[in-house]
Amino acid sequence: MEYEFLKIERIDGISIMKVSAPKSLNALNSTILREIGDFVENLDDTTRVLIITGDGEKAFVAGADIAEMANLNEEEGYKFGALGAKVFRRIETLDIPVIAAVNGFALGGGCELAMACDIRIASNKAKFGQPEVGLGITPGFSGTYRLAKLVGQGYAKEMIFTGKAIRADEALRIGLVNAVYEPEELMPKAIEMAQKMTENAPLAIKYAKQCINESYDLVVEDAMELESRNFGKCFATQDQKDGMAAFLEKRKPVFNAK
Ligand code: HXC
Repeated sequence: MEYEFLKIERIDGISIMKVSAPKSLNALNSTILREIGDFVENLDDTTRVLIITGDGEKAFVAGADIAEMANLNEEEGYKFGALGAKVFRRIETLDIPVIAAVNGFALGGGCELAMACDIRIASNKAKFGQPEVGLGITPGFSGTYRLAKLVGQGYAKEMIFTGKAIRADEALRIGLVNAVYEPEELMPKAIEMAQKMTENAPLAIKYAKQCINESYDLVVEDAMELESRNFGKCFATQDQKDGMAAFLEKRKPVFNAK
């Protein structure tokens, strides 16, 4: 499918998806949300890591499209929120790691998109915030859930109730991002991290991601059982056989499984 608002690049096993709506600082309208949904649903089997970033130098994603939302009624508002929530949940539950390379404004739905990714790294120009209450709405793409999970309820409530935007260094301090780089270093660092991941066993990464994602919502015994089960499943993979044989034979492993 040809995308109007996405630019897709490919470097070996890494796919890079750039949200590209320059006239609105990459704000997410329903067409973009559907395009993202289509793209992640149809990722080819050879993609081992997905990097999501924003086109241009100013914005990752400046939020959901306020012009599109302005005249929605209650039912339409619900549907718009649910569409984004579903697409973002699909990103979160992909079998592969997803890295958000936050190159500028990540506000509202932009912050929510970054939070649906497994890992966030940012340029020192990035700004994060959930300014929705200033527009008379709540966060709507699962920001109340994920922000509180990532930074704790107290700081999430401060950000959401004040609507304030925080700089990348503050996002780093509170654990919203893993690292902050000069703007020109951001994509090389994202690709370097992704490449490191592509050297490892894809099924093991998939099972580990599933454990981390799901264990938050489980009691500890169930989380331990899930991990034990996934650990066991690794022993049914060729990756485990070759990964351990390679160590013992002092050579590099060859990981092929998806
Ligand atoms: C629609 C947007 C937009 C948005 C920016 N633009 N953000 N259009 N929706 N979220 C447009 C502007 O209208 C403007 O268009 C152009 O992009 C450039 O933006 P400026 O405001 O001129 O740039 P600047 O002065 O540098 O300010 C940058 C900014 C500001 C601080 C990021 O644009 C801003 O505050 N944007 C809105 C951020 C926001 O509130 N996001 C949350 C939205 S609610 P023109 O035509 O004038 O050039 C949300 C809800 C999610 O995300 C859940 C939904 C269910």
